[in-house]
Order: sequence, then C-alpha cells, then structure tokens
Amino acid sequence: MEKTVQLYEGKAKKVYATDDPNLVIVSYKDDATAFDGAKKGTIRGKGAVNNRMTNFLMRKLEAAGIPTHFVEELNDRETVVKKVQIVPLEVIVRNVSAGHFASRYGVEEGIAFDEPVLEFSYKNDDLHDPLLNTSHALALKLATKEEIATIKSMALKINDILKDFFAQCGVRLIDFKLEFGKTTDGQIVLADEISPDTCRFWDAKTNEKLDKDRFRRDLGNVEEAYEEMMRRVFGE
Ligand code: TMP
Ligand code: ASP
Repeated sequence: MEKTVQLYEGKAKKVYATDDPNLVIVSYKDDATAFDGAKKGTIRGKGAVNNRMTNFLMRKLEAAGIPTHFVEELNDRETVVKKVQIVPLEVIVRNVSAGHFASRYGVEEGIAFDEPVLEFSYKNDDLHDPLLNTSHALALKLATKEEIATIKSMALKINDILKDFFAQCGVRLIDFKLEFGKTTDGQIVLADEISPDTCRFWDAKTNEKLDKDRFRRDLGNVEEAYEEMMRRVFGE
C-alpha cells in the first residue's frame, strides 16, 4: 500500500490518501504540543512508540469485540487505517482524579473513583475543546442518540480491557482520551490513537508519571518515559 497525496496534517500525525478510497495511511510525528498548541516541542522517538503501542492495543481491543479503524502496520511510524469521518467528541474516561478533573473541581490528584467517570469535550481547538454533556452534543448534532449510546458503552468496555492489561504491565491507567469515527458504511469504530500522548500512566508501585504530563509539566525524562512504556507493553 502506497501513500498518494497528503490529506491532512494534525499536531501529532499526518494523514495520506491511498489508491483505495476506503483506506488512508497515518504517519506519526515526533512533534508534541500541549495547551491547544501553545507549548511546542519534540519528543524523540515518540512517533514510533505511539504508532506501535496504538496498533498493539487496537489489535487487543478488536480481539475483545471492539471495532476499530486499524488495518495494517506498514512500518515503525506508518499504519493503514479505514477512512472515517471523526465524530467531533473527545471521549475521556477517568479512573483516578488528575489533570483537568482535579483543577476544575478543586480536588487533589490521585483519588481513585468507585466508578469510572465518562466525559465529553467538543473537539474544537478554536473553542479550546469545551466540556459538554450528551444533550449539548445532541443539540449541536455532533452525533445521533444511538451513536452516543454506542460510543459510551464502547468507551467503558475499552476502559475495562485497558485497565486490566496495564495492571499486568505494572501501570495504573489513570485516565485517557478516545476518538471515534464513522466508516463509509456508517459503523462507529474506535479511531485516533491510544498512547502516552492520550493516556495518563502512573507506575503501580511509585506513581511515577510515564506519559505526556512529563512534557506538559516540564518534569524531564520525557523520552525515557515513552521508552519505559514500550518496555512495559512489549517487554522490550
Ligand atoms: P485532562 O485531565 O487534561 O482533561 O486530560 C484527560 C486525558 O485526556 C489525559 O489522559 C490526557 C488526554 N488528553 C488528550 O489526549 N488530548 C488533549 O487535548 C487533552 C486536553 C487531554
Ligand atoms: N495535544 C494537545 C494540544 O496541543 C493538548 C494535550 O495533549 O495536552 O492541544
């Protein structure tokens, strides 16, 4: 499968067309941004880590019955995926208080919840991805009622699977962000990525941060954290 024209360049990935109108190729970059692109940098090796980890996890989720956009890994940075229309919702699942949950509601980080918290943001950088609920999403026609119900139940099932898997790797899955897409035949599938850019991972013993918060918060050892997560997942 060959890339043809570039269709889109996002903050962390590029998307190319292919000869097949139903397939595109994503290419993961080492570029890192935070705070709506206000903070910029490079995390060496990140593209390969995020590509390989995403594909590994998408295969695992597929095996557990979750439909995804994944088709085929081409090389360290590039993957063939189904062409989808992204539902403009950032679907966040939280198991432990951190980040915006902690700052928005004035609680400390690290409080484990009895039940996972499911949250939507409107995927719109100009508006700074505002938090919204199901009725806001319906009013804005971002998705149908049925699609939102599917997305919610898939997100919670994905949380169960990922939480168990990362626990086996000695990692606490604190929270993460998912994006879903609609295929040309109207099926809702998991899209985008699942990586240290889009998840909070804390070491199970020490609570050391092993994710993009090291970049967001200038904690140092950013590349090392991404490499450590590769070792945890692949045993490399
Ligand atoms: P938050 O606490 O900043 O809302 O982040 C929740 C989770 O979502 C965290 O694992 C990081 C991830 N995330 C993204 O993937 N992209 C984003 O733009 C933001 C703000 C968070
Ligand atoms: N990458 C996101 C941005 O620049 C933010 C983040 O992951 O914190 O908007």
